[in-house]
Amino acid sequence: ADVRAAEGRLRGRLHRTPLLTSGGLDRLAGRRLLFKCELFQRTGSFKIRGALNAVRSLVEESQRAGRGLPRAVVTHSSGNHGQALACAAQAEGIPAYIVVPWTAPRCKQAAIRTYGAMLVPCEPSDKSRAETAARIVQETGGVMVHPNQELAVIAGQGTIALEVLEQAPEVNAVVVPVGGGGMIAGIAVAIKALRPDVKVFAAEPRNADDCYQSKARGELTPNLHPPDTIADAVKTSVGPNTWPIIRDLVDDVLTVSEEEIKRATRLVWERMKLLIEPTAGVGVAAVLSEQFQAVPRDVENVCIVLCGGNVDLSSLTWLTDLPGKAE
Ligand SMILES: Cc1ncc(COP(=O)(O)O)c(C=O)c1O
Repeated sequence: ADVRAAEGRLRGRLHRTPLLTSGGLDRLAGRRLLFKCELFQRTGSFKIRGALNAVRSLVEESQRAGRGLPRAVVTHSSGNHGQALACAAQAEGIPAYIVVPWTAPRCKQAAIRTYGAMLVPCEPSDKSRAETAARIVQETGGVMVHPNQELAVIAGQGTIALEVLEQAPEVNAVVVPVGGGGMIAGIAVAIKALRPDVKVFAAEPRNADDCYQSKARGELTPNLHPPDTIADAVKTSVGPNTWPIIRDLVDDVLTVSEEEIKRATRLVWERMKLLIEPTAGVGVAAVLSEQFQAVPRDVENVCIVLCGGNVDLSSLTWLTDLPGKAE
C-alpha cells in the first residue's frame, strides 16, 4: 500500500524509464535479460524515487497539520541519494544539507552543489556519516531523510517494481544491487505482494558482502571495515529496517569480484552504449557469474536494475591520460 501511495505521489514528476534488451548479453547469460534503465532517471539514478516520495510526504504532512515547511532536510549519502534529496528539496523550496564521504566521486559532489544543497564532507565510514548527519540535524533543526532506512524512501524505490511488472509481465526474476538495502527492500515488498512467483536476487561486491553474510548467518552482520570496491554506491551496510524485509523476502544473494564488476560495466558500455556506473555493473556481473548458472532454467526472463549512471569520467584512466582538461 505504501508503494502504491508512492506511485501516486511521484506520478508525472519522474521519468518512466525504459526496459532495454541486448541479444549479445542474452547469449552471454544464456537467458533473456531485461535492463531497467534507471541511469536515465532524473538525477541519474533511481534514488530520486525515494527522496521525492519522502520530501513530498513531509510537505503533505505539514500542509495537513497547517504548519510551515520543514526548516531543512538532512542526509548522508555516497552521492546519489544526496543528489536526489537536493533535487527534491530544491523543487519544494526546502534547504538541504548533504553529508558526503570525502572519497565520493567528484561528479556526484558537484551535482549536489548544482542542486543548491550545502555539502558537508565526512570520513568514509558509516559511523562518521551517521554522526556528522546527527550533528547537522541538531544544528539546523532539519528533518533527517535516511538514504535507505527511511520508510518513505523504501516505498519510493519500490515503484521500480510496479513499473517492471507492467512493462514485462513475463519477468521471472529481478536482480538488484544492494547497499543499505532500500532499493531491494522496496522492490521485494512490491514483488512478493503482487507476484510471489517472481524471484528477487540481491547482487553485492564480494568486498562489501554484508548482505550475503547477514543472510548466511540469519542475523544482521554489517561490514566491519569501510569496504574497498569500485562500486562506490554499495559500500554502506544493510540496516535495521531493511534487514527483516531482506531476510524474509529476498531469495538469494549473489556476490561478485572487482574484476567481474569492471568487466560487466565495460561490457554494457561497449555493447549497449549505456553509460552505467560500476554499481549498476554489479547486477550485470551477478547474472553473468558462474553462480547464476545454478539458478533453474525456468527463470528465463531476468530483469537487472541498471540503478545509476553517475560515473566519474575523470576516473577512467584512458580519459585522464588525454591531454587538456575535460571540463
Ligand atoms: C546507483 C546505486 N545503486 C545502488 C544503490 C544501493 O541502494 P540501497 O542503499 O538502497 O541498497 C545506490 C545507493 O546509493 C546507488 O546510488
